[in-house]
Amino acid sequence: MYGRERGALYGLAPLAIKPEVGELLYMLALARRPGTIVEFGASLGFSTIHLAAAARDLGEARVISTELESDKARLARQHLAEAGLDDLVDLREGDALDTLADVDEVDLLFLDGWNNLYVAVLELLEPRLSAGALVIADLSAGDPEQDSFRERMSDPAGGYATIEVPLDAGVVVSVRTAPAGA
Ligand SMILES: C[S@@+](CC[C@H](N)C(=O)[O-])C[C@H]1O[C@@H](n2cnc3c(N)ncnc32)[C@H](O)[C@@H]1O
Repeated sequence: MYGRERGALYGLAPLAIKPEVGELLYMLALARRPGTIVEFGASLGFSTIHLAAAARDLGEARVISTELESDKARLARQHLAEAGLDDLVDLREGDALDTLADVDEVDLLFLDGWNNLYVAVLELLEPRLSAGALVIADLSAGDPEQDSFRERMSDPAGGYATIEVPLDAGVVVSVRTAPAGA
């Protein structure tokens, strides 16, 4: 059981990244120095807090995140406020394919919603990736829905340099090598 079915079964469970994945996100964000960080799948805000902490420490970044479930979005906002990071995050409630449609530039994209939408969210935002943008995707153990994303990011002609980092079920880290707007 994956994606939406799993989400329905787990209700308000956070389904959050592991702490070591959060540390990786924080470090990669510090290294890339993004102006705009975009996250697909906030859940209760654990990964969002790591991204927003990097934005705060860089002093020049903002985070746009999105969450489908309104109860989860409410809790994520509460957790961001408790962490003192809510002013750095624009948390958009709804389907990422709608809520992220007007994002104009992306320097770091974190994909952590249901895996069957990784390619669709990437395709939505790809024209707005800056040169050298990072695309980071948290994988789910054995989920066949992530295969198309993996294949796409490892295609030598696809405009990315990609490695898979063996943390938790795997984290795909890609650097956009194609020019911005390609
Ligand atoms: C694995 S959880 C995210 C965990 C979170 N990134 C963290 O580490 O704390 C996936 C989340 O993506 C959300 N989601 C799934 N499909 C979505 C969509 N189309 N648009 C926005 N959010 C979506 C789910 O409701 C769920 O809360």
